[in-house]
Parts: sequence; C-alpha cells; structure tokens
Amino acid sequence: MRAVALAAAALYSGSALAATSYSLVKEYSGQDFFNDWVFYNQYDNTTNGDIVYVSQQNATAQKLAYVNDNGAAIIKVDNTSFVPWNQKRDSVRITTADYFELGSVLIMDASHIPYGCGIWPSFWTKGEQWPSGGEIDIVEAINSMTANQYALHSNEGCSASSSATFSGSIGATDCNATSGCLFGETKDNSYGPGFAAAGGGVYATLLDDSGISIWFWSRSDVPSSISSTATTVDISDWGTPSANYTSADCDIAEYFAPQQIVLDITMCGDWAGVASIYESMCPITGATQANASSCYMQDVYNNGNQTALATAYFEINYIKAFNANGTVLSASGSTTSVNPTSVAASASASGSGSSSATSTGTSASSSGAGAVGAVGAVKAWALAAGVGALFAWTLM
Ligand SMILES: *[C@@H]1O[C@H](CO)[C@@H](O)[C@H](O)[C@H]1NC(C)=O
Ligand SMILES: *[C@@H]1O[C@H](CO)[C@@H](O)[C@H](O)[C@H]1NC(C)=O
Ligand SMILES: *[C@@H]1O[C@H](CO)[C@@H](O)[C@H](O)[C@H]1NC(C)=O
Ligand SMILES: *[C@@H]1O[C@H](CO)[C@@H](O)[C@H](O)[C@H]1NC(C)=O
Ligand SMILES: *[C@@H]1O[C@H](CO)[C@@H](O)[C@H](O)[C@H]1NC(C)=O
Ligand SMILES: *[C@@H]1O[C@H](CO)[C@@H](O)[C@H](O)[C@H]1NC(C)=O
Ligand SMILES: *[C@@H]1O[C@H](CO)[C@@H](O)[C@H](O)[C@H]1NC(C)=O
Ligand SMILES: *[C@@H]1O[C@H](CO)[C@@H](O)[C@H](O)[C@H]1NC(C)=O
Repeated sequence: MRAVALAAAALYSGSALAATSYSLVKEYSGQDFFNDWVFYNQYDNTTNGDIVYVSQQNATAQKLAYVNDNGAAIIKVDNTSFVPWNQKRDSVRITTADYFELGSVLIMDASHIPYGCGIWPSFWTKGEQWPSGGEIDIVEAINSMTANQYALHSNEGCSASSSATFSGSIGATDCNATSGCLFGETKDNSYGPGFAAAGGGVYATLLDDSGISIWFWSRSDVPSSISSTATTVDISDWGTPSANYTSADCDIAEYFAPQQIVLDITMCGDWAGVASIYESMCPITGATQANASSCYMQDVYNNGNQTALATAYFEINYIKAFNANGTVLSASGSTTSVNPTSVAASASASGSGSSSATSTGTSASSSGAGAVGAVGAVKAWALAAGVGALFAWTLM
C-alpha cells in the first residue's frame, strides 16, 4: 500500500460544502479495468433475476468481462449458450474493493449500456450494510425503457423533495419505500438505443454531506472539464443536476456510509420480469396473456431473445472516483491518501496508447474484499416493483 499524505494535506479544503475541486483517487480503465473488483460468483439472490453471476475466471474464459480493442471494458450477458429449462443464463456482477466516502465524485463514461426485452442493468453504489449504509442507483432501467431512472434506498427518515433544484422529473419521495425515492431523466438519449446511437455519454454523481446529486450528459454535451485525462474535477460548471437529494430532506451523513460501486446485468426478476410490467413493454408470443415466466421463456430460456441479448452489454471507457480529501477507504477499513498524479501516471503507464488510458489506481489494499464484496445489498424491488415500473412507464 502506498500512502501519499502530502497530497491529501494540500487538497483538503476544510469543508466538504466549500470544496469545488476533487482529486482523482481511483481509476478503472483500459487493460487494468477489472483490477480491484470482486466478482459476485453466485446466482442473482437479490432481485430474483434468471441469471448466474459468474466468477472472474469464468467471466474471463467466456468473454463476459474483457477489454476490447478500443481499450473499453465490456461487461455482458452470455448470448451464445443454450439454456435448458429451469436453468439460468450467465452474467456478471462486480463490486469495487474500495469504498468512496462523503466528499466524492464518481464519473462513468460509457458508449453502451445494456438494454432490450428482459434486460435489467444497473450501475449503482451501496454501503457495506444494507439498507443502513444506503444505496444510490445511478443508472437503472429495464426492457424497452428509453430513459434512465435514479433512486436512493435508505432507512426511514430520508426523502427526495420537489423543492430541490433539479432538471429531471421527481417520482416517489420516500427513500425507505420499496421503490426508493426516484427521479426520472428527461434529457434525450439517457438509455437504450438512443444512448448507444448518440455515442453514449457520461453519468456523474456527487456524494457529499450537503446532498447527493446526479448529472447526465449525452456525448455531445459532456462538459469540457470532464475528460479521460483529468486528475481533478470542478463541478461548478456542470449546471443543474438531473437528480438532487439535498441534506435538507435527507441527512446524508446519517443515511450514507462510504459507498462501493457495483455494475451488474440481470434479466427478468423482480422488476423487468413482473408480468404486468413486462407485458407493457415487450410483446408476448405464444400465450394470450403475460405470466410470471413470460420473460424467462422469451428472453432467457433456450437460445433466449437473440436481439435483446446482442445489446445486453456495457461498454465503459472509464470509471473514475475523485475525493475532496484525496482519500479512499480500503476494504480492510483503512483510509488511504492517494496522489492523483500517480493514479494518472499509473493509468498512462499501463495504457494501450488509446485515449482511454488504463490504470491500476494506486494504493488501495483489497485484503478482505472477498468477505465485504459478498455482502449483497438486497435491492428492494420485490414488493414494490409495480411502483417503480409505474413511474418508469410514465417516462416512456
Ligand atoms: C461458467 O459457469 C457456468 C455455470 O454458471 C458453467 O456452466 C460453465 O461451464 C462455466 N464456464 C467456464 C468457461 O468456466
Ligand atoms: C476530510 O478530512 C477531514 C479531516 O480528516 C474530515 O474531518 C472531513 O470529514 C473529511 N471530508 C471529507 C469530505 O471526506
Ligand atoms: C426480442 O427483443 C427485442 C429487443 O428488445 C424486441 O424488439 C423483440 O420484440 C423481442 N422479441 C420477443 C419475441 O420477445
Ligand atoms: C440541489 O438543490 C438545492 C436546493 O435548491 C441547491 O441549493 C443545490 O445547489 C442543488 N445542488 C446542486 C448540485 O445543484
Ligand atoms: C421502512 O421500510 C421497512 C422495510 O420495508 C418497513 O418495514 C417500514 O415500515 C418502513 N418505514 C416507514 C416509515 O415507511
Ligand atoms: C406463459 O407465457 C409464455 C409466453 O409469454 C408461454 O410460453 C407459457 O406457456 C405461459 N405459461 C403459462 C403457464 O401459461
Ligand atoms: C452476442 O452479443 C455481442 C455483443 O455483446 C454481439 O456482437 C454478437 O453479435 C452477439 N452474438 C450473436 C450470436 O447474436
Ligand atoms: C446472497 O448471497 C451472498 C453470497 O453468498 C450472501 O452473502 C448474501 O447474504 C445473499 N443475499 C441474500 C439476500 O440472500
């Protein structure tokens, strides 16, 4: 573990609220994208999807997680296997070994996000304990939705409010509700074929004790201050966030512990696969009405829905974490200061030479990561799938 205390001292601005500059503490990109993640290696036991999340070795062997010729990370659902009746399809769920504290900005630059009938991807974060450590759903959508939906999940006492300043559309406001507290993206091309056709875009999340805010920019609108090489970010020119959960309505420091980043793609299950929801978005063949196994029968079983499966992949240019204090929290519980220049230098040293640099990040210890990573957050769709979907439906 390399600790660079100097950088942290210089960067600390004295108050998370006053901080406008955040320094790079972790970068996942290029050939080293998959370093420092924990593969779930277990069937989807949190949202009841018809998916087995495989081990890193298996995902690598099957090319479900790899770096493509452009230096981008591909994470996908198996679209070549024949799935016998009552068995599940292979996919990937990965969690960062590191935790990102209040005072962090997380940026994902992607050119493709999974979509299609039966497909349910998510790019999200969670505290070590659920729900007490909180959950932030940054990218989450299902089936034929064309717009992204944001949510927080927390213990009772935290809510979204229409008095915040945001550009999206507000949905359920109680973050303890089974759907979570919701904002819908209203900018064009935040999800689905539109996102891909536009060349993708950037999702940025501010996790701060003053509030949690999320911005989305389609490729042509990404602020110039955000780039694959930036070692600091300044959010002051980012404009109004799409989703804004302020500390006036949710004591962020109370409800949100340091967060791990999670990427997964499930299928069907407690949201995408609910008969009424599935039927409202995807055609039903061979039956007069949708039932609980329609999604499985049409999209997972046998050869699956080849059209949907061919678009069931993330293509990620980079994920970067920035922190006002220049620190990350390792799985073993130690806070480590990181020199942003060494993160970037490490990135370009191991890079493929393309614009999407690679990185190992610098310092975090991943000891104990297995145990921590295995603590799955139970995403609370089970009972309220209808609530989330109703909201989603109004966005379409
Ligand atoms: C990956 O795991 C699946 C079970 O989910 C198994 O059927 C398959 O043989 C494994 N593939 C490899 C290449 O290890
Ligand atoms: C930064 O570090 C200081 C001193 O350790 C701490 O009081 C503060 O909460 C930290 N702020 C953030 C945003 O992490
Ligand atoms: C397969 O998925 C595609 C893309 O999501 C969709 O347009 C099509 O209707 C689906 N077909 C069936 C039979 O579900
Ligand atoms: C969120 O809304 C509050 C209340 O309107 C506002 O003070 C704050 O600046 C907003 N956050 C961002 C990042 O714009
Ligand atoms: C918060 O959620 C839990 C779990 O769903 C539920 O038991 C509890 O009643 C909720 N509290 C409130 C105030 O809604
Ligand atoms: C459920 O619907 C699927 C097609 O959507 C069909 O293949 C299957 O036979 C139906 N099952 C029942 C029990 O009706
Ligand atoms: C499987 O999906 C990939 C994208 O992940 C696509 O390029 C390929 O054509 C698909 N294969 C088949 C047989 O549809
Ligand atoms: C899911 O499986 C993991 C790993 O075995 C376990 O730690 C976790 O408690 C399980 N979650 C649920 C909701 O069963």
